[in-house]
Amino acid sequence: MQQTFTLRKFTPKDLERVMYINRVCLPENYGDYFFLDLHNRFPETFIVAEENGEIVGYVMCRIEVGLSNFGFSGFIKKGHVVSIAVMPEHRRKGIGKALVTRAMEGMRLYNAKQCFLEVRLTNTPAISLYEKLGFKVTKTIHGYYSDGEDAYVMSREL
Ligand code: ACO
Ligand code: ZN
Repeated sequence: MQQTFTLRKFTPKDLERVMYINRVCLPENYGDYFFLDLHNRFPETFIVAEENGEIVGYVMCRIEVGLSNFGFSGFIKKGHVVSIAVMPEHRRKGIGKALVTRAMEGMRLYNAKQCFLEVRLTNTPAISLYEKLGFKVTKTIHGYYSDGEDAYVMSREL
């Protein structure tokens, strides 16, 4: 099938729409400052997907310094996918995969060596997407979410 969406970097004009998509798609919601701060610090990894001039998905990330999620190679820069969502009627068209792939390119520009994220153990669509992109479960965090659900940390090298 032909690709019908395009990717571009987030701009502050997109804030309301991205916050709307976040509220529709995920129980983890944030104030406007949270989104704008991630954009100010890491513009290369805050990406939106558009279809017919309308934003239908986003990914936003943070670059962190921490211990390697694989083995014992010490402190490194890691790209953390903080939040990703695609509007329900636009799913299974490759948008999520394209968003994460583009965010990982941005992470490399910041010299990140690994990429990781947290995901609910029951979130099969998201886990499948990350597995398809080469992520592996590297840790389980018990009670990570505010409703008590556990999270997998999934990671891959960049
Ligand atoms: N069931 C099984 N596998 C799936 C599913 C599903 N529902 N959705 C995606 N996949 C897998 C498939 O392997 C798919 O490839 P295929 O369609 O060729 O079989 C592959 O992932 C790529 O799928 P995309 O079409 O790129 O993913 P999509 O655009 O549908 O977005 C997303 C996936 C972002 C997880 C979407 O389902 C969504 O917005 N869900 C609600 C919000 C959410 O859960 N976000 C992730 C939370 S974790 C975090 O933010 C760090
Ligand atoms: Zn996280």
